[in-house]
Amino acid sequence: MITTSQHPSAITAQVMENLEVAPGHYRMSLCLPDFFDLPHPGQFVMIREPGREEPLLSRPFSVYGFRKENDQGILDLLYRVVGRGTAFFSHLREKSSVSVLGPLGKGFTMPTSVRNAVLVAGGVGVAPLNFLLQQFHERASDFREVGITAYVGARTSALLVGMDRLEGFCDLRVSTDDGSLGYRGAVTDLLERDLGSYPQDTTWIYGCGPSGMILSLSRLVRPTSLRCQVSLEERMACGFGACLGCAVKTTDSQGVTNYRRVCSEGPVFDIRELSQI
Ligand SMILES: Cc1cc2nc3c(=O)[nH]c(=O)nc-3n(C[C@H](O)[C@H](O)[C@H](O)COP(=O)(O)OP(=O)(O)OC[C@H]3O[C@@H](n4cnc5c(N)ncnc54)[C@H](O)[C@@H]3O)c2cc1C
Ligand code: FES
Repeated sequence: MITTSQHPSAITAQVMENLEVAPGHYRMSLCLPDFFDLPHPGQFVMIREPGREEPLLSRPFSVYGFRKENDQGILDLLYRVVGRGTAFFSHLREKSSVSVLGPLGKGFTMPTSVRNAVLVAGGVGVAPLNFLLQQFHERASDFREVGITAYVGARTSALLVGMDRLEGFCDLRVSTDDGSLGYRGAVTDLLERDLGSYPQDTTWIYGCGPSGMILSLSRLVRPTSLRCQVSLEERMACGFGACLGCAVKTTDSQGVTNYRRVCSEGPVFDIRELSQI
């Protein structure tokens, strides 16, 4: 796992599949050499098309799924096309080469004392939480007693991605802004209705989504003693701690303010540490 500003080297992976799963949303599966480290949920990779000069910088994506198959690692990403980098990626075809740096950063804490894991996702924020769910199931001997509930929101039902990997694997609660599926409104409003039913000492909330969702989650959780970690999706340049381009302001439990790098000291933070939200 790379957590400091050492200069890691990228490896070349081959695209196995790059499928449009919803309008403007793609699932890309990459075939990696066996020595690629097993990622931890919440970690991410930096992706770039080798040899292409534009866009110059690699782009960060959370690990959406990972498995070993025939001595190779299969890494799944789930991404939304928002600009030039993601538009380039959406045109990659089977057998294209991609440069991959990672797994990077620090992921979610999975304490064995947890009894309720509550996942809260907005849009493609479902990606790292899906991998977290997968890991809770794969490490069943440690997490047999954990009840997992996923709250997943999107603007409209057509943009609810990653549902195939949630349905049947957790208690799934869905919201859409337009009411086309599930609860009509924000995913955090849906969570708010249930929040009092979760025991405060054994429940962990894990979130990922747009900044507005993280802000609402912070307002919900702060008055409680529920543990809550969120994965941030700051803009990044180097991705491994060298450029300071991704720093966020944090305040620890003693009130000490600091700037921490999302790429190497995150992207997962305790929500109460984040002073900017
Ligand atoms: C740790 C981490 C994990 C991520 N995981 C995923 C993931 O699993 N799936 C996914 O779809 N995206 C994810 N992102 C966001 C993704 O990296 C950006 O959407 C991508 O870099 C945009 O590249 P681009 O060249 O297409 O857009 P650009 O041309 O760079 O930007 C296009 C537009 O998108 C905005 N934008 C760019 N990056 C971000 C960002 N990080 N947050 C908000 N707005 C942004 C820009 O301000 C601009 O308006 C993650 C980001 C981080 C830091
Ligand atoms: S992106 Fe360079 S330090 Fe985080």
